[in-house]
Amino acid sequence: MIRKVFFAALVSAFAFPGAGLAQSDYPNKPITVIVPFAAGGPTDVVARILGEHMSRTLGQQLVVENVGGAGGTTGMTRVATAAPDGYTLGVGNMGTQSAAPALYPTLKYNPATSFDQIGIANYTPQTIVAKKDTAAKNLKEFLAYLKDNSAKLSYGHAGVGSISYVSGTVFNSQFGFKPALVAYRGTAPALNDLVGGQIDYMVDQSLNVIPQIKGNTIKAYAVAAPARLEALPDVPTTKELGVDFIFSAWNAMVAPKGTPKAIVDKLVDALNKALDDPNTVKRYVELGSTPPEAADRGPAGLQKLVESEMARITPVLKAAMAAEPEKK
Ligand code: MLT
Repeated sequence: MIRKVFFAALVSAFAFPGAGLAQSDYPNKPITVIVPFAAGGPTDVVARILGEHMSRTLGQQLVVENVGGAGGTTGMTRVATAAPDGYTLGVGNMGTQSAAPALYPTLKYNPATSFDQIGIANYTPQTIVAKKDTAAKNLKEFLAYLKDNSAKLSYGHAGVGSISYVSGTVFNSQFGFKPALVAYRGTAPALNDLVGGQIDYMVDQSLNVIPQIKGNTIKAYAVAAPARLEALPDVPTTKELGVDFIFSAWNAMVAPKGTPKAIVDKLVDALNKALDDPNTVKRYVELGSTPPEAADRGPAGLQKLVESEMARITPVLKAAMAAEPEKK
């Protein structure tokens, strides 16, 4: 038996002479981080905050590549099918990593099995926002306005399967609103059009909309969360307004399935160091985001979140789509 194990080790050392070294000197060149949405949006901002810190820990640049399209599934498919060598990573989100399979029957990846999970990056509540000249003075008036006018209005989102699509689908179907849906490659370009008045409303991450709310270029009606955000003290929550709509978004870092454990461990450690940095914590507070608790960090915490979110959101989406088959 011992002889057999020794022989197997010998064979593998000859067959893959550089494998051990490649892991121990990892990373020895820049790492590509695929962000499956447009630059400047929530996923991109989080990837750049964490990537900048992780570059310092790992001694190599993490270079963000924005690969938008199909609600983020184009970019995440690229991650899932990349060489599992630690040099291609992805930052996905609640949409790409839990909702997409319910909306794309031929999706080429499964969020629970096609990746080596690195860890949860952050949680951020969705916020109900509208273009600046919307007359409704508060959420109650806005819901009443949508009830009578939604068929003439447009809702902007980051593509079928993105968080803004999923949260909008749940919001619109819950209240019976039927706006025209306008897809973008991310919520950064969607928000530009909301500011410009080309679209009427969005349910988007506080991370994306806080600067525009503070600059009064859009109107905020509520944060879809149980508690007010430190960054938006004047914006009420859906909970305090008695509106039954709470929606939390999240981002997460992943690697292609089969990435050597020694490499995943280095990435997990670098991500955790980035999350603990006081500058990250400060940026997160400014953006209305929260880092994961220590107990939820790393691959196990993310795997659990992906599985529970897939189980939670799939029936919700299917029910919403069944109510509006033309939106499929
Ligand atoms: C989403 O709605 O999924 C995100 O806001 C997309 C993005 O990061 O732009």
